[in-house]
Amino acid sequence: MKKYIFCIATLGFALQGFSQSAAKGKGVYDKVCIACHQGTGLGIPGAFPPLAKSDYLNKDTSRAIKGVVKGLSGAITVNGKKFNSAMPAQALSDQQIADALTYVYANWGNNKTVVSAAMVKAQRK
Ligand code: HEC
Repeated sequence: MKKYIFCIATLGFALQGFSQSAAKGKGVYDKVCIACHQGTGLGIPGAFPPLAKSDYLNKDTSRAIKGVVKGLSGAITVNGKKFNSAMPAQALSDQQIADALTYVYANWGNNKTVVSAAMVKAQRK
């Protein structure tokens, strides 16, 4: 029993930094991204691509960050479905974008990538 408690406590500390960022990210997501990508992360077929289990998102973190920082338009394929629309550049700080994407990656079957403010900054160039 003691061993279990120790394990859970250790895991808790290890995950703390991660879940703090993801928790803050939910605030940003629910204010900004939700309008298009929806609370479920499923988007709207034909208009807004899904972030839930998105192959596009999980395959290339830099590309995903860049789209949010600089905006994204033109034809893309997400989970086998074509989208040809436009996402405006999101006027958020490096930290806000990092937190929002960390939240997205932490949910809906995505690959749990932790996005840092430095990673976002690198895509602004
Ligand atoms: C005004 C609507 C709108 C808002 C707000 C918006 N997006 Fe998007 N997003 C889009 C559209 C439209 C596309 C697809 C663009 C295309 O067709 O080229 C997209 C594409 C994406 C993609 C790549 C495709 C995918 O599904 O994996 C990611 C990642 C993404 N958005 C994340 C975000 C995040 C995170 C936020 C909030 C910080 C956000 N978006 C806010 C409309 C929006």
